[in-house]
Amino acid sequence: MSELLIRGRVLTFVKEPEGIDDTASYRFFEDGAVLVRNGKVAGVGAHAEVAKQAGDGVKVADHRPHLVLPGLIDTHLHFPQTQAIASYGAQLLEWLNTYIFVEEQKFKAPEHAAFIAGRFMDELLANGTTTAVAYCSVHPESVDAFFNAAEARNMRMVGGKVMMDRNAPEALTDMPEKGYEETKRLIAKWHGRGRAHYAISPRFAITSTPGQMEMSRALVAEHPDCYVQTHLSENKDEIAFATSLYPQAKDYTDIYARYDLLGRKTLLGHCIHLSDREISVLAETGAVGVFCPTSNLFLGSGLFDRDRFDRLGARYSVATDVGAGTSFSMLETMDEAYKVLHLQGQRLSPLNSFYMMTLGNARALDLEHCIGSLHVGADADIVVLDSRAKPAMELRMQVASSLTEELFILQTMGDDRSVAEVYVAGKPMKCGPRGASAPAP
Ligand code: GUN
Ligand code: ZN
Repeated sequence: MSELLIRGRVLTFVKEPEGIDDTASYRFFEDGAVLVRNGKVAGVGAHAEVAKQAGDGVKVADHRPHLVLPGLIDTHLHFPQTQAIASYGAQLLEWLNTYIFVEEQKFKAPEHAAFIAGRFMDELLANGTTTAVAYCSVHPESVDAFFNAAEARNMRMVGGKVMMDRNAPEALTDMPEKGYEETKRLIAKWHGRGRAHYAISPRFAITSTPGQMEMSRALVAEHPDCYVQTHLSENKDEIAFATSLYPQAKDYTDIYARYDLLGRKTLLGHCIHLSDREISVLAETGAVGVFCPTSNLFLGSGLFDRDRFDRLGARYSVATDVGAGTSFSMLETMDEAYKVLHLQGQRLSPLNSFYMMTLGNARALDLEHCIGSLHVGADADIVVLDSRAKPAMELRMQVASSLTEELFILQTMGDDRSVAEVYVAGKPMKCGPRGASAPAP
């Protein structure tokens, strides 16, 4: 039996905060601890209580005065775009054609895919992200590289092969049957293996013919426990193009609805320019709109209207969307989320930010039983955050007087430097017990 006692200022959410002072939404232990046994949370609470549950000679990782939270969750990004972050000057369709469809061709080579997959996982961990939902490239080799790199680190990851059969270079297209067969083979190989989850991934309506959408429908019907990920209503030119390709559809959302692609396991990147009707369809089907603030600002796409999602009862999550997103850091992402909402007169409290990065995103994935909060029985995926990681943060913290103020400083000023440690199933992955570097892939 392996045991570890992680000591620090423990914070974990139990429900969505209803405002800046909603102390009932979280549990916080100023001198707290998490007892990890065989990769799971075996105890959580005040250090004095939790320490009593530990066996004699238990190893202790003392992270005081840092915060100890559940590992962060990123619900949308593209692993083959790791080296395409910061590609200059274009909006969505031009950016895809100029940079992304060139970059993704490199992932046919298994060595390249394996190299980037390893670096990608390490970058997630360096930023405190322990679970992510990622697009791979069209090549099955890229999916093997992705899940192999996750498995080597024992990370709970969601991913899938992009399917595209038009409006992309030939080297990046699969035919409907081929996309279907490859996806089925990858699901059989990876879905449910260790901590892997598969996401059926038609890229978006522009790059899939009706034939490929039919195949996507069949895949979803045959594998209802897999996720589905695609993009919806990110950019005005995209919307005009997509709806012109599917003239029978009422609107962009209806394209996916007509192929039965909307359900509780469906993650729809962006969802910026939706009508009330479309958001209501998401609410009825349980599909999740994914808010990607750094990406939406970087590509000049628009502003996600969270309050309308709340009013119409639709689910949403938050994500980096690397490589249109400009950072792997969920802290930096929430900093931009705050600003995107602020511009629309909407408030994002620090409690809500930290809820969204953890339990909120876990709920969006229906994975709250195992990740997103530190309850007994949860996976011991844990991040340790240092609110004084930079001199300017240290100075600002000298005059901070509450937990919520500290959280807001972390989100506004923090980045990977604020991640003091990250645990995957109880194993330290960033600094290690003696400050060692991350394990080799
Ligand atoms: N829409 C279709 N593909 C993509 C992509 O790779 N990134 C973003 N931001 N939007 C997309
Ligand atoms: Zn995307």
